[in-house]
Amino acid sequence: MITLFFVDTVSAGTITTSAEIITIPVVVHVMYHNANENISDAQILSQLVVLNKDFRGNNADRAKVPAYFAPLAADAGFEFKLASMDAHGYATTGILRKYTKIEFFGTDDRIKSSVRGGDDAWDRNQYLNIWIGNLAGGILGYTSTYGGPADKDGVVIQYSAFGTIGSVNAPFDLGRTATHEIGHWLNLLHIWGDGYCGDDQVADTPKQRSSNRGVITGEKFSGCEANAHGDMYMNFMDLTNDAGMFMFTAGQRQRMRSSFEAGGARRQILASNALKISTLTAPIEQPLFAAFVSKIAVYPNPASANIIIELKGMPVSGLHTLIIYNYLGHPVMTQMVKGNECLLNVAELKSGVYIIKADNGLVTKFVKN
Ligand code: ARG
Ligand code: ZN
Ligand code: CA
Repeated sequence: MITLFFVDTVSAGTITTSAEIITIPVVVHVMYHNANENISDAQILSQLVVLNKDFRGNNADRAKVPAYFAPLAADAGFEFKLASMDAHGYATTGILRKYTKIEFFGTDDRIKSSVRGGDDAWDRNQYLNIWIGNLAGGILGYTSTYGGPADKDGVVIQYSAFGTIGSVNAPFDLGRTATHEIGHWLNLLHIWGDGYCGDDQVADTPKQRSSNRGVITGEKFSGCEANAHGDMYMNFMDLTNDAGMFMFTAGQRQRMRSSFEAGGARRQILASNALKISTLTAPIEQPLFAAFVSKIAVYPNPASANIIIELKGMPVSGLHTLIIYNYLGHPVMTQMVKGNECLLNVAELKSGVYIIKADNGLVTKFVKN
Protein backbone atom coordinates (compact mmCIF):
# COMPACT_ATOMS: atom_id res chain seq x y z
CA MET A 1 0.00 0.00 0.00
CA ILE A 2 1.24 3.48 -0.82
CA THR A 3 0.56 6.25 1.65
CA LEU A 4 0.69 9.78 0.34
CA PHE A 5 1.54 12.59 2.70
CA PHE A 6 0.35 16.04 1.80
CA VAL A 7 2.58 18.61 3.42
CA ASP A 8 0.51 21.33 4.95
CA THR A 9 2.29 24.14 3.17
CA VAL A 10 0.43 27.43 3.02
CA SER A 11 -0.53 28.58 -0.45
CA ALA A 12 -2.27 31.45 -2.17
CA GLY A 13 -3.43 33.75 0.57
CA THR A 14 -4.73 31.37 3.15
CA ILE A 15 -3.37 30.87 6.59
CA THR A 16 -5.94 28.88 8.40
CA THR A 17 -4.35 26.97 11.20
CA SER A 18 -1.40 27.83 13.37
CA ALA A 19 0.18 24.51 12.42
CA GLU A 20 0.84 25.37 8.78
CA ILE A 21 4.32 25.79 7.41
CA ILE A 22 4.98 29.10 5.67
CA THR A 23 7.36 28.83 2.72
CA ILE A 24 9.37 31.94 1.90
CA PRO A 25 10.77 32.35 -1.65
CA VAL A 26 14.29 33.75 -1.55
CA VAL A 27 16.35 35.72 -4.06
CA VAL A 28 20.05 36.12 -3.27
CA HIS A 29 21.90 39.08 -4.79
CA VAL A 30 25.63 38.32 -4.69
CA MET A 31 27.62 41.55 -5.13
CA TYR A 32 31.33 40.98 -5.59
CA HIS A 33 34.38 43.12 -6.16
CA ASN A 34 36.90 40.34 -5.66
CA ALA A 35 36.46 36.77 -6.83
CA ASN A 36 36.34 35.38 -3.27
CA GLU A 37 33.28 37.53 -2.55
CA ASN A 38 31.48 35.80 -5.42
CA ILE A 39 30.47 32.98 -3.08
CA SER A 40 29.56 29.62 -4.60
CA ASP A 41 26.10 28.20 -5.12
CA ALA A 42 27.11 25.49 -2.63
CA GLN A 43 27.84 28.11 0.04
CA ILE A 44 24.46 29.73 -0.59
CA LEU A 45 22.72 26.36 -0.34
CA SER A 46 24.52 25.65 2.94
CA GLN A 47 22.80 28.75 4.34
CA LEU A 48 19.39 27.56 3.13
CA VAL A 49 20.00 24.30 4.98
CA VAL A 50 20.69 26.19 8.22
CA LEU A 51 17.58 28.37 7.85
CA ASN A 52 15.43 25.32 7.20
CA LYS A 53 16.69 23.75 10.42
CA ASP A 54 16.70 26.84 12.65
CA PHE A 55 13.21 27.99 11.65
CA ARG A 56 11.78 24.48 12.09
CA GLY A 57 13.43 23.79 15.44
CA ASN A 58 15.41 20.99 13.80
CA ASN A 59 18.87 22.38 14.51
CA ALA A 60 21.02 19.76 16.25
CA ASP A 61 22.22 22.21 18.91
CA ARG A 62 18.65 22.80 20.07
CA ALA A 63 19.48 19.89 22.38
CA LYS A 64 21.74 22.34 24.28
CA VAL A 65 18.79 24.45 25.41
CA PRO A 66 18.81 24.10 29.21
CA ALA A 67 15.93 22.10 30.67
CA TYR A 68 14.38 25.21 32.28
CA PHE A 69 14.03 26.93 28.87
CA ALA A 70 13.34 23.81 26.79
CA PRO A 71 9.52 24.03 27.13
CA LEU A 72 9.66 27.51 25.55
CA ALA A 73 11.77 26.46 22.52
CA ALA A 74 9.65 26.30 19.37
CA ASP A 75 9.41 25.23 15.77
CA ALA A 76 8.77 28.62 14.13
CA GLY A 77 7.17 26.91 11.13
CA PHE A 78 9.04 28.66 8.30
CA GLU A 79 10.82 27.15 5.31
CA PHE A 80 12.98 28.92 2.72
CA LYS A 81 13.43 28.07 -0.96
CA LEU A 82 15.37 29.75 -3.75
CA ALA A 83 12.96 31.33 -6.22
CA SER A 84 12.39 29.46 -9.49
CA MET A 85 10.45 32.16 -11.33
CA ASP A 86 11.14 35.88 -11.74
CA ALA A 87 8.60 38.69 -11.83
CA HIS A 88 8.23 38.37 -15.63
CA GLY A 89 7.51 34.65 -15.47
CA TYR A 90 10.96 33.56 -16.62
CA ALA A 91 12.99 30.86 -14.97
CA THR A 92 15.54 31.94 -12.38
CA THR A 93 18.00 30.13 -10.16
CA GLY A 94 17.12 32.58 -7.37
CA ILE A 95 20.80 33.58 -7.33
CA LEU A 96 21.88 36.83 -9.02
CA ARG A 97 25.56 37.63 -9.38
CA LYS A 98 27.01 40.98 -10.19
CA TYR A 99 30.44 42.55 -10.26
CA THR A 100 30.63 45.90 -8.45
CA LYS A 101 33.28 48.58 -8.42
CA ILE A 102 32.53 49.10 -4.75
CA GLU A 103 35.05 47.48 -2.41
CA PHE A 104 33.07 47.86 0.82
CA PHE A 105 29.40 48.43 1.46
CA GLY A 106 28.08 50.28 4.50
CA THR A 107 24.61 50.26 6.03
CA ASP A 108 23.50 53.05 3.66
CA ASP A 109 21.60 50.57 1.42
CA ARG A 110 23.78 51.33 -1.59
CA ILE A 111 23.96 47.56 -2.09
CA LYS A 112 20.21 47.63 -2.85
CA SER A 113 20.51 50.12 -5.70
CA SER A 114 21.65 49.20 -9.21
CA VAL A 115 22.54 52.78 -10.11
CA ARG A 116 24.69 53.11 -7.00
CA GLY A 117 26.73 49.95 -7.54
CA GLY A 118 24.37 47.45 -5.95
CA ASP A 119 21.41 45.49 -7.24
CA ASP A 120 17.75 46.54 -7.09
CA ALA A 121 15.35 44.64 -4.84
CA TRP A 122 12.86 42.22 -6.31
CA ASP A 123 9.21 42.67 -5.30
CA ARG A 124 9.05 42.13 -1.55
CA ASN A 125 5.50 40.82 -1.86
CA GLN A 126 6.91 37.82 -3.75
CA TYR A 127 10.48 37.42 -2.52
CA LEU A 128 12.70 37.73 0.52
CA ASN A 129 15.67 39.70 -0.83
CA ILE A 130 19.05 38.74 0.60
CA TRP A 131 22.07 40.80 -0.47
CA ILE A 132 25.55 39.39 0.02
CA GLY A 133 28.55 41.69 -0.09
CA ASN A 134 31.71 42.84 1.61
CA LEU A 135 30.47 44.95 4.51
CA ALA A 136 32.79 47.51 6.07
CA GLY A 137 33.63 47.75 9.74
CA GLY A 138 33.01 44.20 10.93
CA ILE A 139 29.24 44.36 10.41
CA LEU A 140 27.88 40.84 9.97
CA GLY A 141 24.50 41.87 8.67
CA TYR A 142 21.57 44.26 8.95
CA THR A 143 17.88 44.28 8.11
CA SER A 144 15.44 46.82 6.73
CA THR A 145 13.03 48.46 9.14
CA TYR A 146 9.85 46.43 9.43
CA GLY A 147 7.15 48.30 7.51
CA GLY A 148 9.75 50.48 5.77
CA PRO A 149 10.11 51.31 2.06
CA ALA A 150 9.62 48.46 -0.44
CA ASP A 151 12.81 49.08 -2.40
CA LYS A 152 14.94 48.64 0.72
CA ASP A 153 13.13 45.59 2.08
CA GLY A 154 15.29 42.59 2.94
CA VAL A 155 18.47 41.55 4.69
CA VAL A 156 22.12 42.23 3.93
CA ILE A 157 24.77 39.72 5.03
CA GLN A 158 28.56 39.81 5.04
CA TYR A 159 29.86 37.29 2.47
CA SER A 160 32.12 35.65 5.06
CA ALA A 161 29.23 35.08 7.49
CA PHE A 162 26.78 33.48 5.05
CA GLY A 163 26.41 29.71 5.07
CA THR A 164 28.71 27.15 6.63
CA ILE A 165 31.31 26.44 3.92
CA GLY A 166 33.58 28.32 1.51
CA SER A 167 34.49 31.84 2.61
CA VAL A 168 32.95 31.71 6.11
CA ASN A 169 35.00 32.74 9.14
CA ALA A 170 34.67 31.43 12.70
CA PRO A 171 33.03 32.22 15.06
CA PHE A 172 30.31 33.34 12.60
CA ASP A 173 30.50 30.27 10.39
CA LEU A 174 27.29 28.43 11.29
CA GLY A 175 24.87 30.56 9.30
CA ARG A 176 23.30 32.25 12.32
CA THR A 177 23.73 35.79 11.01
CA ALA A 178 21.04 35.08 8.41
CA THR A 179 18.86 33.35 11.01
CA HIS A 180 19.11 36.44 13.24
CA GLU A 181 18.55 38.97 10.46
CA ILE A 182 15.58 37.08 9.01
CA GLY A 183 14.18 37.03 12.55
CA HIS A 184 14.26 40.85 12.33
CA TRP A 185 12.74 40.72 8.83
CA LEU A 186 9.89 38.78 10.44
CA ASN A 187 9.46 41.61 12.96
CA LEU A 188 11.42 40.22 15.91
CA LEU A 189 13.27 42.66 18.12
CA HIS A 190 16.50 41.98 19.95
CA ILE A 191 15.84 39.92 23.04
CA TRP A 192 17.03 42.72 25.35
CA GLY A 193 14.56 45.10 23.65
CA ASP A 194 17.42 47.42 22.60
CA GLY A 195 17.29 49.11 25.97
CA TYR A 196 18.37 48.59 29.57
CA CYS A 197 16.12 45.67 30.58
CA GLY A 198 14.07 46.64 27.52
CA ASP A 199 10.95 45.01 26.12
CA ASP A 200 11.10 42.82 22.99
CA GLN A 201 7.28 42.61 22.98
CA VAL A 202 7.40 38.86 23.38
CA ALA A 203 6.02 37.54 26.65
CA ASP A 204 7.98 34.32 27.03
CA THR A 205 11.47 35.76 26.55
CA PRO A 206 12.78 36.97 29.91
CA LYS A 207 13.97 40.55 30.29
CA GLN A 208 17.72 40.99 30.22
CA ARG A 209 19.93 43.99 30.80
CA SER A 210 21.68 44.11 27.40
CA SER A 211 23.16 41.92 24.68
CA ASN A 212 25.43 38.96 25.29
CA ARG A 213 28.54 38.02 23.32
CA GLY A 214 30.69 34.94 22.87
CA VAL A 215 29.48 31.52 23.97
CA ILE A 216 27.87 31.38 27.40
CA THR A 217 26.91 28.34 29.47
CA GLY A 218 24.96 27.95 32.69
CA GLU A 219 22.69 30.54 34.24
CA LYS A 220 23.58 34.18 33.71
CA PHE A 221 21.72 36.78 35.72
CA SER A 222 21.84 40.36 34.49
CA GLY A 223 19.56 41.69 37.20
CA CYS A 224 16.50 43.15 35.46
CA GLU A 225 13.71 41.52 37.40
CA ALA A 226 12.98 38.24 39.12
CA ASN A 227 13.89 35.92 36.26
CA ALA A 228 14.12 32.44 37.70
CA HIS A 229 16.89 31.42 35.29
CA GLY A 230 18.36 34.67 34.03
CA ASP A 231 19.16 35.68 30.47
CA MET A 232 18.01 33.59 27.50
CA TYR A 233 21.40 34.27 25.89
CA MET A 234 21.04 31.22 23.59
CA ASN A 235 18.18 32.91 21.73
CA PHE A 236 18.74 33.68 18.04
CA MET A 237 17.87 37.31 18.78
CA ASP A 238 20.76 37.82 21.23
CA LEU A 239 24.26 38.59 19.88
CA THR A 240 26.30 35.60 21.00
CA ASN A 241 28.56 33.70 18.58
CA ASP A 242 26.96 31.38 16.07
CA ALA A 243 27.72 28.41 18.33
CA GLY A 244 26.07 30.17 21.28
CA MET A 245 22.56 30.72 19.81
CA PHE A 246 20.10 27.94 19.07
CA MET A 247 16.48 28.74 19.82
CA PHE A 248 13.37 30.78 19.06
CA THR A 249 10.53 30.72 21.60
CA ALA A 250 6.84 29.99 21.07
CA GLY A 251 6.15 33.69 21.65
CA GLN A 252 8.64 34.65 18.95
CA ARG A 253 7.03 32.13 16.60
CA GLN A 254 3.67 33.76 17.17
CA ARG A 255 5.03 37.28 16.61
CA MET A 256 6.79 36.24 13.37
CA ARG A 257 3.74 34.46 12.03
CA SER A 258 1.35 37.29 12.86
CA SER A 259 2.88 39.16 9.88
CA PHE A 260 1.17 36.60 7.65
CA GLU A 261 -2.31 36.94 9.09
CA ALA A 262 -4.90 39.06 7.30
CA GLY A 263 -3.66 42.64 7.32
CA GLY A 264 -0.10 41.59 8.20
CA ALA A 265 2.84 43.19 6.40
CA ARG A 266 4.09 39.90 4.94
CA ARG A 267 0.67 38.50 4.06
CA GLN A 268 1.04 38.87 0.29
CA ILE A 269 4.07 36.62 0.10
CA LEU A 270 1.74 33.67 0.73
CA ALA A 271 0.38 34.22 -2.80
CA SER A 272 3.82 34.56 -4.42
CA ASN A 273 4.43 33.01 -7.85
CA ALA A 274 8.15 32.83 -7.17
CA LEU A 275 8.26 29.08 -6.60
CA LYS A 276 6.32 28.14 -9.72
CA ILE A 277 7.92 26.52 -12.75
CA SER A 278 8.34 28.84 -15.72
CA THR A 279 6.86 27.80 -19.05
CA LEU A 280 8.19 30.84 -20.92
CA THR A 281 11.18 30.78 -23.21
CA ALA A 282 13.05 33.92 -24.06
CA PRO A 283 12.54 35.52 -27.42
CA ILE A 284 15.78 35.51 -29.42
CA GLU A 285 15.48 37.32 -32.72
CA GLN A 286 17.67 35.50 -35.23
CA PRO A 287 18.13 38.43 -37.68
CA LEU A 288 19.43 40.64 -34.90
CA PHE A 289 21.95 37.99 -34.07
CA ALA A 290 23.68 38.26 -37.42
CA ALA A 291 23.40 42.04 -37.69
CA PHE A 292 24.75 43.01 -34.32
CA VAL A 293 27.08 40.24 -33.37
CA SER A 294 30.13 42.48 -33.75
CA LYS A 295 28.78 45.13 -31.38
CA ILE A 296 29.28 43.06 -28.24
CA ALA A 297 32.76 41.78 -27.54
CA VAL A 298 33.27 38.90 -25.12
CA TYR A 299 36.68 37.77 -24.02
CA PRO A 300 38.15 35.34 -23.29
CA ASN A 301 35.90 33.15 -25.40
CA PRO A 302 35.66 30.24 -24.75
CA ALA A 303 35.81 31.01 -21.03
CA SER A 304 35.88 29.03 -17.81
CA ALA A 305 35.53 31.63 -15.03
CA ASN A 306 35.45 35.38 -15.72
CA ILE A 307 34.43 37.04 -18.96
CA ILE A 308 34.62 40.69 -19.87
CA ILE A 309 31.68 41.95 -21.89
CA GLU A 310 32.17 45.13 -23.87
CA LEU A 311 29.16 46.93 -25.31
CA LYS A 312 30.62 48.81 -28.23
CA GLY A 313 29.04 52.09 -29.16
CA MET A 314 26.81 52.27 -26.10
CA PRO A 315 26.80 55.44 -24.02
CA VAL A 316 29.16 55.14 -21.04
CA SER A 317 26.66 56.92 -18.83
CA GLY A 318 23.84 54.49 -19.63
CA LEU A 319 22.55 51.60 -17.59
CA HIS A 320 22.05 48.39 -19.49
CA THR A 321 20.64 44.98 -18.74
CA LEU A 322 22.29 41.87 -20.11
CA ILE A 323 20.53 38.53 -20.10
CA ILE A 324 22.45 35.31 -20.62
CA TYR A 325 20.41 32.54 -22.21
CA ASN A 326 21.27 28.90 -22.61
CA TYR A 327 20.84 27.21 -25.99
CA LEU A 328 17.23 26.35 -25.12
CA GLY A 329 16.48 30.03 -24.81
CA HIS A 330 16.09 29.93 -21.04
CA PRO A 331 17.57 32.88 -19.17
CA VAL A 332 20.22 31.65 -16.75
CA MET A 333 21.73 34.93 -15.55
CA THR A 334 20.95 38.62 -15.60
CA GLN A 335 23.44 41.40 -15.16
CA MET A 336 23.02 45.16 -14.93
CA VAL A 337 25.82 47.09 -16.60
CA LYS A 338 26.64 50.70 -15.91
CA GLY A 339 28.61 52.09 -18.81
CA ASN A 340 29.83 49.85 -21.56
CA GLU A 341 31.91 47.19 -19.89
CA CYS A 342 31.41 44.59 -17.20
CA LEU A 343 33.05 41.58 -15.65
CA LEU A 344 30.91 38.50 -15.28
CA ASN A 345 31.74 35.31 -13.45
CA VAL A 346 30.41 32.33 -15.40
CA ALA A 347 32.16 29.63 -13.39
CA GLU A 348 28.83 28.22 -12.22
CA LEU A 349 27.42 27.79 -15.73
CA LYS A 350 27.44 24.33 -17.28
CA SER A 351 29.66 23.81 -20.32
CA GLY A 352 28.03 24.81 -23.59
CA VAL A 353 26.98 27.66 -25.85
CA TYR A 354 25.31 30.74 -24.36
CA ILE A 355 23.67 33.78 -25.92
CA ILE A 356 24.15 37.24 -24.43
CA LYS A 357 21.45 39.75 -25.21
CA ALA A 358 21.54 43.42 -24.24
CA ASP A 359 18.42 45.47 -23.57
CA ASN A 360 18.80 47.36 -26.86
CA GLY A 361 18.67 44.13 -28.83
CA LEU A 362 22.39 43.52 -29.30
CA VAL A 363 23.19 39.81 -29.20
CA THR A 364 26.32 37.70 -29.18
CA LYS A 365 27.36 34.30 -27.99
CA PHE A 366 30.11 32.70 -26.00
CA VAL A 367 31.21 29.22 -25.09
CA LYS A 368 31.60 28.09 -21.51
CA ASN A 369 34.12 25.27 -21.27
N1 ARG B 1 23.46 42.61 13.16
C1 ARG B 1 24.29 41.80 14.01
C2 ARG B 1 25.72 42.29 13.92
O1 ARG B 1 26.17 42.68 12.84
C3 ARG B 1 24.23 40.36 13.62
C4 ARG B 1 24.67 39.46 14.68
C5 ARG B 1 24.51 38.03 14.28
N2 ARG B 1 25.07 37.16 15.28
C6 ARG B 1 25.68 36.02 14.96
N3 ARG B 1 26.12 35.22 15.89
N4 ARG B 1 25.89 35.66 13.73
O2 ARG B 1 26.43 42.30 14.92
ZN1 ZN C 1 20.01 42.23 15.30
CA1 CA D 1 10.27 39.45 26.56
